[in-house]
Amino acid sequence: MIPLTLAEVAAAVDGRLVGADPQARVTGPVEFDSRKVAAGGLFVAFPGEKVDGHDYAAGAVEAGAVAVLGTREVPGVPMVLVADARDAMGRLARAVVDRLPDLTVIGLTGSSGKTTTKDLIAQLTVRLGATVAPPGSFNNELGHPYTALKAGPETRYLVMEKGARGIGHVRYLCELVPPRISVVLNVGTSHIGEFGSRENIALAKGELVEALPADGLAVLNADDALVDAMASRTVARVVRYGEAPAADVRAEDVTLDDRGRASYTLVTPEGRAPVRLGLTGRHQVSNTLAAAAVARELGMPLTELAQALGELGLVSTRRMDVFDRPDGVTVIDDSYNANPASMSAALKALASLGRGRRTVAVLGYMAELGPYERDGHAEVGRLAAELGIDRLLVVGEPAAPIHEGATAVGNWGGESVVVTDQAAAVEVLRDELRPGDVVLVKGSRYRTWDVVDALRADAAAGNAGPGTATGGGAA
Ligand SMILES: Nc1ncnc2c1ncn2[C@@H]1O[C@H](COP(=O)(O)OP(=O)(O)O)[C@@H](O)[C@H]1O
Ligand SMILES: [Mg+2]
Repeated sequence: MIPLTLAEVAAAVDGRLVGADPQARVTGPVEFDSRKVAAGGLFVAFPGEKVDGHDYAAGAVEAGAVAVLGTREVPGVPMVLVADARDAMGRLARAVVDRLPDLTVIGLTGSSGKTTTKDLIAQLTVRLGATVAPPGSFNNELGHPYTALKAGPETRYLVMEKGARGIGHVRYLCELVPPRISVVLNVGTSHIGEFGSRENIALAKGELVEALPADGLAVLNADDALVDAMASRTVARVVRYGEAPAADVRAEDVTLDDRGRASYTLVTPEGRAPVRLGLTGRHQVSNTLAAAAVARELGMPLTELAQALGELGLVSTRRMDVFDRPDGVTVIDDSYNANPASMSAALKALASLGRGRRTVAVLGYMAELGPYERDGHAEVGRLAAELGIDRLLVVGEPAAPIHEGATAVGNWGGESVVVTDQAAAVEVLRDELRPGDVVLVKGSRYRTWDVVDALRADAAAGNAGPGTATGGGAA
């Protein structure tokens, strides 16, 4: 945050000061959780369904807030009164980024891999200058301004993921925090229930490059036709990444090691350099190329870039987080979320990591597929069988089409079962897992991660073998 007087805050948010000194300065963080308020901060009171932020206004001021931004007066509390607190937070964020001429805003969107790639980009930009990137997803109307308001005069890079749930959504987020570099990863089928078609999803995601200024940069995935075509929707320069020959930032000679980690030759207009990733999954080739294209644009030399790519780690949890239990069972925790594209990426990672070992996939329901729901699940099951996954545990009746898709593959040598819930899946795993097995756990937020936590706890308690589970890559 840059210091602003309350008069400046009020002007930025179209608000009215009540009982507040216009010359008092906000120097601290903007928070909507009163427990996080610090001296010099600004507290935003949201009228919630269960808790009303205004009830915490006085406490926030006691904790050091200079004023409270809210929608109704609270006696004795200096207020910036607005019609809509969320909208006001967005306007304030815009006012702050507009006052930071040295800040480069990097926005990214896509159907899969936004949070992962946001973390990758931030790990590269931090080598070039002070970086602000939100923890976890934080990709909506609230998380966006909240993150942008963390930027100060020292900040050089602000990395933001932009989720789209409908047409106009990304455009709105870009109005709050306009990007100078826009990265579009892929167009899949997540949220297809709301959008109706992949073309509509592309329409929505392309708003990210439409928002660019002429001196901006669009970083587009050359391997995804719907993304590649977005080049015609921007006035900015375009850099393509991918494995397609047309890509400016390209991977050649991709190989995977027995832990499912990719190595490749990074090819850019500046030359070629070998890259060896520490991240699991073939799809990380694409994600790291996107990050490389951004870092290259910001001036990172090729050899340093190749080296830095090899040092990238996981930041946000439960995304391709691989850990070994002392009993020799390897667990792939990809339980944060699931859609058909990320299921496919995860199953391929399981197959490659599990070469020569027994592979087990614990798969849950994928939310928000709408009319594509049945087919989406069935295709995942079919892919699991085609990849030769040995054992499938389908968690919950709504996910049963995964089971049907798998068992419909005639020559599949594996076995599938539908279990009622997470606890039942854990029971089966406790019974069946043997040293050397590789287990993938994945689903859409319906707490498939309980299964992972049980697998970790088993190892720690010695139920599955002596010793303590070694950590995943999460930090
Ligand atoms: N390029 C990619 N293609 C397909 N799946 C991916 C890709 N990158 C990440 N994933 C997988 O997608 C899931 C969601 O990842 P995440 O980074 O949280 O994406 P998002 O923020 O877009 O929801 C994880 O299971 C992750 O392993
Ligand atoms: Mg995300």
